[in-house]
Amino acid sequence: AAVRTEWAQQVRDLADQRNAVILAHNYQLPEIQDVAHHVGDSLALSRIAASVDEPTIVFCGVHFMAETAKILSPEKRVLIPDANAGCSLADSLTAQQLVEWKAQYPDAVVVSYVNTTAAVKALTDICCTSSNAVDVVASIPADKTVLFGPDQFLGAHVRRTLDRENMHVWGGECHVHAGINGAELAAKAQEFPDADLYIHPECGCATSALYLASAGAVPADKVKILSTGDMVTAARAGQAGGTRSVLVATEIGMIHQLKRAAPGIDFRAVNDRAACSYMKMITPEKLLRSLQELRDEVHVDPATAARARGAVERMIAIGQ
Ligand code: 13P
Ligand code: SF4
Repeated sequence: AAVRTEWAQQVRDLADQRNAVILAHNYQLPEIQDVAHHVGDSLALSRIAASVDEPTIVFCGVHFMAETAKILSPEKRVLIPDANAGCSLADSLTAQQLVEWKAQYPDAVVVSYVNTTAAVKALTDICCTSSNAVDVVASIPADKTVLFGPDQFLGAHVRRTLDRENMHVWGGECHVHAGINGAELAAKAQEFPDADLYIHPECGCATSALYLASAGAVPADKVKILSTGDMVTAARAGQAGGTRSVLVATEIGMIHQLKRAAPGIDFRAVNDRAACSYMKMITPEKLLRSLQELRDEVHVDPATAARARGAVERMIAIGQ
């Protein structure tokens, strides 16, 4: 087992004293991932948050993730080491905008990506994450119009996969993933022609990858559109099957978890500047302070949480 630093030991001791569980998203700094009790993608962490026994959850991720944990477990104390850790994608659809969009399609079923505020979730029929978005939309009767937001690239991926025309997609994006573009992907794929491509569906290059595959520029069986958790699963299977090299199109924190899962594979970022400054606001110092001072506590207005809960519970039930 890895030797724990003094800081890591202090964090784990405090977590024990506080009866707290530490959850970390795959985009967190390596030392935060290594000290956490659980590391995963948005869906896995939501499921864990809903089922852990500890009365306190320290969420090392961004604010909407901690809010989702609070919505699922209102009786628990949910802490985030820095409440300013936001998300540009969640900011791209406000509750007021969603109210107006719904008014244009009164009979539509609203599917919101988990990267949204609690107020948007309260106006949503069913939430999804990147790992179950296709299953969630597929669960909606074919004659129902679907409003999908806020991520345009994930929405396009779902629409393309299901070949669903009665699905309207909001024009939001994550600035980190939108910035991983098709030209960079094509250049990297040319440089490493034997590599598999793991592409997060929030990426601007997800469409380009499929285009490159259809044009024969990269072998279609090498292109995999995956959530961060599914990348870890694919890496384990890839290592067992003899994969040597993988190009990764997502936030660069992901590489740490992939190397842990499959040390025999050479993982390279398609864009090694793709760092989420919000995720990186959770520093080792702030995690320690969070446990020492029980801050920043996440609160969701109980009426909003009650309206949002059904949508989040439907999300964690689909794709189990
Ligand atoms: P997943 O971990 O669900 O793939 O989400 C990626 C992301 O951008 C979270 O902010
Ligand atoms: Fe939001 Fe993008 Fe950062 Fe994920 S990587 S938290 S979607 S800004």
